[in-house]
Amino acid sequence: MKNTVLTLKQAKENGTKITMLTAYDYSTARLIDEAGVNMILVGDSLGNVMLGYEDTVSVTMEDMIHHGAAVARGAKNAMVVVDMPFMSYQTSVYDAVVNAGRLMKEARANAVKLEGGVNVVPQIKAIVAAGIPVVAHIGLTPQSVNAFGGHKVQGKTEVAARKLIADAKAVEEAGAFCVVIEGVPSKLASLITSKLSIPTIGIGAGADCDGQVLVYQDMLGMYSDFTPKFVKKFANIGEVMKAAFEKYIEEVNSGAFPSAEHCYAIDGDIIEKLEKEG
Ligand code: KIV
Repeated sequence: MKNTVLTLKQAKENGTKITMLTAYDYSTARLIDEAGVNMILVGDSLGNVMLGYEDTVSVTMEDMIHHGAAVARGAKNAMVVVDMPFMSYQTSVYDAVVNAGRLMKEARANAVKLEGGVNVVPQIKAIVAAGIPVVAHIGLTPQSVNAFGGHKVQGKTEVAARKLIADAKAVEEAGAFCVVIEGVPSKLASLITSKLSIPTIGIGAGADCDGQVLVYQDMLGMYSDFTPKFVKKFANIGEVMKAAFEKYIEEVNSGAFPSAEHCYAIDGDIIEKLEKEG
């Protein structure tokens, strides 16, 4: 069954946990979709894990459309959420609506995600008014890494905690149907979850959020540049991949690959004739 804004709302009401994973390509999206994950996020984390940047600041609309469209082709039942990259919505409400529209039309997203709380309320209202579902993202918002002075846990002081609660309420009132909470103390994320009627999806925000999200390369042990405390490795696919690449090199060098079963045959007479012709 296709996951929609309605089924996700019902999940919160019924107390059923929501699962979300990132994907950036068709094959991975298909696997995640077939596994039954509710939402696939084409995160601007693709800047780190796919493109090798040190942060998400350089990611462009073209990057998001290119990867978003590939994921949308691979996802049958999961809701596909595509991130709005840095400076595609901060500049004006007009830019926000135009760029959200491009992600829907050109990437075939089911919803868009943008970072911020009270400060992006006008953008959320305008995008929602255009008929586009919005996922908000509060707490440790990676596009603001330079303003934060690094990837730092947010909401630890009373003032910061009150600001996060205000951000969460503001994005809900603006019309977001869901909110990602990143890098926030578990008890604060739990309190925010109890105050909202829209689902909260946590990453580094404890077990009481309505759902969880992880970057798939992190949870599969495929990305080692930086591993935050909140990441659990559910498999060590990076090591499996490296061992397979090493075996491939060994077998090509030794001549063990390709063997007869991986080769195409031709009638021996034809080769003999061609050889005789010189
Ligand atoms: O870009 C991303 O992958 C994200 C998640 C970490 C929530 O925004």
